[in-house]
Amino acid sequence: MRLTGKTQLYGIIGYPVKHSLSPLFQNLFFQSCNVDAVYVPFEVSPENLKDAIRGLKALKVKGVNVTIPHKEAVLELVDHIDEHAKVIGAVNTLKFAENEIHAFNTDWIGFKRALLELIPNQTDKNPKALVLGAGGSSRAVLYALKELNYQVYIYNRTKERALKLSQELKTQVVDRPEDVIDKVKLIVNTTSVGLNPTDPPIFDYDRISTNHIIVDIIYRETPLIKKAKQLGCKYQTGLEMLIYQGVESFKIWTGIEVPQELIDQAKREVTLASSL
Ligand code: ATR
Repeated sequence: MRLTGKTQLYGIIGYPVKHSLSPLFQNLFFQSCNVDAVYVPFEVSPENLKDAIRGLKALKVKGVNVTIPHKEAVLELVDHIDEHAKVIGAVNTLKFAENEIHAFNTDWIGFKRALLELIPNQTDKNPKALVLGAGGSSRAVLYALKELNYQVYIYNRTKERALKLSQELKTQVVDRPEDVIDKVKLIVNTTSVGLNPTDPPIFDYDRISTNHIIVDIIYRETPLIKKAKQLGCKYQTGLEMLIYQGVESFKIWTGIEVPQELIDQAKREVTLASSL
């Protein structure tokens, strides 16, 4: 990497941010696409978020990704919010224009693109999905599934949260995943359950059949993904969604569509880094 006086600055703000894989592949994109820019992690605690945004603006940083726990709080600090992000209620990408900050959500696009890669030929006219979780990530996933005409059932440990979400994004809340598991083709985990391999399962994973398609938005191999593999189900981890949300952010910042070979290279590098 060769930095010059003209090198432009991009990054990610989160708390914590040490484990982020975005610097790895965003810098690969910048370098391979010959953009004189660098992408760095910024650890910003919630009480410093406002100052950090002002600072990024003052330093003429061109764009940042926004991750946990700032995806919702940052809405208050920007000038324009893209229509999709408004409905989802969270943003993960900021673009600093001359005197304005534009906010976008690319998580839903990342999820949608990853899912279309997993299920390229959707033949089912009335596809049904079960979404586990009702947090910030669940909102983006639900939004994408709605765009793809899925009928969605949602399960969350705290039912009130699922009910609130279902009112806003028009889904059905279930008391137990087991109640609808035989009706759905797709199961998506958006909770943090499985991050730790000893986490107890969200439901009885023995109810999963070979025909189910399993997506877990956690990057690493969770017990749910292990089960899917064991059964020979089609499955996908969160790595694809992660890369594709980044591809979309990159396009917003630079106007460049990352070529497929580079996306594949990013997937290989990120897979390697996340397994270390
Ligand atoms: P994110 O932005 O990543 O979605 P979040 O908004 O904190 O993070 O949401 C975390 C999700 O994981 C929620 O659906 C949460 O369930 P609750 O609403 O009941 O808290 C779910 N979750 C986290 N730990 C869980 C656990 N041990 N069992 C079941 N669900 C869990």
